[in-house]
Amino acid sequence: MFFLLVLFAISLPWAFGRPVLSVPQLLKRQDIDTTVLQFALTLEHLENVFYQQGLKNFSQQLFTDFGFDANDMQNLQLIAQDEAQHVRFLTDAITATGSQPVAECTYSFPSTDVASFLTLSTVLEGVGTSAYLGGAPLLSNKDFLTAAGSILVTEALHTSLQRAVVGAVPAANAFGTPLSANAVFTLAASFIVSCPDSNEPLPFTPFASLSTSEQQGCNSSSSQSNQVNMTVSASSTSTPAVAASTATASNPQCSHKNTRASTTQSSQSKAPYTNSTVAATASCGALSAGAPVAFTAASAIPSGSFVTFVSGLTVVSMMGQVNDVSITATIPPGISGQSYVFVTSSDAQGKIDDAAVLFGPAILEGKQI
Ligand SMILES: *[C@@H]1O[C@H](CO)[C@@H](O)[C@H](O)[C@H]1NC(C)=O
Ligand SMILES: *[C@@H]1O[C@H](CO)[C@@H](O)[C@H](O)[C@H]1NC(C)=O
Ligand SMILES: *[C@@H]1O[C@H](CO)[C@@H](O)[C@H](O)[C@H]1NC(C)=O
Ligand SMILES: *[C@@H]1O[C@H](CO)[C@@H](O)[C@H](O)[C@H]1NC(C)=O
Repeated sequence: MFFLLVLFAISLPWAFGRPVLSVPQLLKRQDIDTTVLQFALTLEHLENVFYQQGLKNFSQQLFTDFGFDANDMQNLQLIAQDEAQHVRFLTDAITATGSQPVAECTYSFPSTDVASFLTLSTVLEGVGTSAYLGGAPLLSNKDFLTAAGSILVTEALHTSLQRAVVGAVPAANAFGTPLSANAVFTLAASFIVSCPDSNEPLPFTPFASLSTSEQQGCNSSSSQSNQVNMTVSASSTSTPAVAASTATASNPQCSHKNTRASTTQSSQSKAPYTNSTVAATASCGALSAGAPVAFTAASAIPSGSFVTFVSGLTVVSMMGQVNDVSITATIPPGISGQSYVFVTSSDAQGKIDDAAVLFGPAILEGKQI
């Protein structure tokens, strides 16, 4: 977001406190609002298609095998309907500003079974929530702000619902995590294969990718054997591989709802990739403060780089141990629930600045404090 602010500040001097705006300046302000809405619509399209495909790909029986009852199924259908409504709502709002709303893209989702589909849904809903939170300060029209806040609430409800069905702590952090548009764009881009040429390009740039090398923090043998691995193979070489895994099934430490995970899961589970951006999404796989965690970057990491953890309103940099494309650091206190990790060129205590980001974000599940 800082990058974005800098970008806008260069072209729009009002950004730094000029109280009186001329008409052209007001129009530019509206342009920013429209860009934020277009970005939101880009994410809503992605979520909408994701649920539509998931509900088509996986039969009712497979959800039942996973442990779903009629209630769970209805909740999932309601989530899918919400996303479709968000798409319609934003499409109308953008049309009303006189712009052409962005259209659906072609996506590539890595979900291979119900467990990986649901796990990815927790990740997408979490990222969606973080996107609205990070984008909120960019909006100048208060009506848009209320509307965006209203969608944010629903995305957060989806997040906790989906986290509950995969056995993660539904609300693992007292605070939501704001993410910059570039960080969200980096994560979203890994699912996007191509978009229609008629879509106006968004003024965001993905960062170079970062993935967790392995789940060093969760090494109990039972959790290992019951993990459901789910990965995204980035369709473009410049975008990151995203992966999530969730500990399920018979490991009693894993989940307060472990009866949900059927024993058929492990036979369905495949681990096609070893790289993961998401270290773990369930409570068992969650990493605790003090655990070492290693990340792999898209290219050589400069020595002296920091590993910056972002979770809720907590931003903490740890000195990284660099070895070529790999960097290791210990997890600091305060990292709880779906959290984000960047390699940064400077020590970013309390606030992360896009200009300092070298790689990321990787997604990491921190153990609830
Ligand atoms: C649904 O299945 C299609 C075809 O195999 C696949 O391309 C797509 O990624 C799947 N989507 C989800 C959300 O599982
Ligand atoms: C992993 O297992 C080893 C041996 O059982 C143990 O000493 C170590 O503390 C564990 N590490 C974590 C992060 O749980
Ligand atoms: C999940 O992935 C990890 C590392 O990528 C691997 O060690 C583990 O065996 C996999 N688990 C399953 C159930 O495939
Ligand atoms: C994991 O990521 C690294 C760095 O991006 C890459 O060199 C390696 O080939 C990847 N491994 C797999 C199995 O995708």
